Amino acid sequence: MALRHFLTLMDMSADELGALIKRAIELKAMQRAGEIYEPLKNRTLAMVFEKSSTRTRVSFETAMIQFGGQAIFLSPRDTQLGRGELIEDSARVLSRMVDAVMIRTYEHEKLELFAEYSSVPVINALTDVYHPCQLLADVQTFIEHRGDIRGRTVAWIGDGNNMCHSYINAARQFDFKLNVACPEGFDPDADILSSGRDHAQIVRDPKDAVRDADLVVTDVWTSMGQEDERVERNTAFQGYMVTPELMQLTSTDALFMHCLPAHRGEEVDAAVIDGPKSAVWDEAENRLHAQKALLEFLMV
Ligand code: CP
Ligand code: NVA
Repeated sequence: MALRHFLTLMDMSADELGALIKRAIELKAMQRAGEIYEPLKNRTLAMVFEKSSTRTRVSFETAMIQFGGQAIFLSPRDTQLGRGELIEDSARVLSRMVDAVMIRTYEHEKLELFAEYSSVPVINALTDVYHPCQLLADVQTFIEHRGDIRGRTVAWIGDGNNMCHSYINAARQFDFKLNVACPEGFDPDADILSSGRDHAQIVRDPKDAVRDADLVVTDVWTSMGQEDERVERNTAFQGYMVTPELMQLTSTDALFMHCLPAHRGEEVDAAVIDGPKSAVWDEAENRLHAQKALLEFLMV
C-alpha cells in the first residue's frame, strides 16, 4: 500500500473510516475472547509527546504490545528534538528505524512537516488544531450504544477547539448534524467550519444546541498550552456547563461524552459525567480498540 498518514479524519475516505470502526469493534471482541492476534511482531511505533497524556500514551503503547510489537516513548526533554534538531532531520532519521510515528504536539504545521519528511506512516495524537484519534473512539462508542450515527444530531458545548474541529470533520465523514454552542470569541476556526457547513452550524445557546440531540459532547475550557488564559476562559464559559437540566432537553436516549481529562463543576456537572447517560469510560477504553484498527490499517 502507498504510504498513508493520519493527520486528520479527512486523510481517509468515509468508507475507509466506516470499515475502520467496524474493525475496531471486531478487535475489541477478539481481545475480550482472549484471542492472541499479533500482526505487528517485531515492528515499532515511535511516540513523540510534547504535551502530557494518559489515555493516548497508554492506549497506543498497549495496542503495540497486544499486537506483538513495541512502542518507544520519546519526550522532547530527552531527545534532540527538544534541543532544536530540525523536524525534517528528526523525521528522516526516526522513520529509517521505526515502522510508524505517533506525534502529540502544539502546531499542526509541525506535524505536517514531520509527515512530509517521514518514510513511514505518521499519526496525529493531538495538535492545537485536531484530535482525530479521539473521534475514532467517540464514533465507535456511539455506534456500540446506539447504532448508526448517520443522520443523528450531536451537540458540541464549549470551546471551538481541537476536539470541536475534529467533530466538524467527523460530521462530514460520518454524515451527522453538529450543533456547536460556544461563547463569542471562542468559535471554531472559520475555514474548518466553512468546510463543514453542510453538516455543522454555530448555535450560541447550549439549550438550542442540545434540543433533540442524540449525543452531547464537551471538553475542557482551557486546553494544554492555554494555561495562562484560565481565569479569563472560566469567566467567558459561564453558562456552558453541561448540567442535568441541559441533558433533559435532549432526545430521551441521548449519550454524554467527554474526551477526558474532565473538570467536574466547570465544563460538566458531576451528576452528568457520573450519571446514567455518560459513556465516558467506554469512550476512553475505545481509544485502545480504535487505534488498534488504525495501526492495522496503516502498518499491516
Ligand atoms: N483524551 C485524551 O487524549 O487524553 P490524554 O490527554 O490523557 O491522552
Ligand atoms: N482540548 C484538550 C484535549 C485533551 C485531550 C487539549 O488540547 O488539552
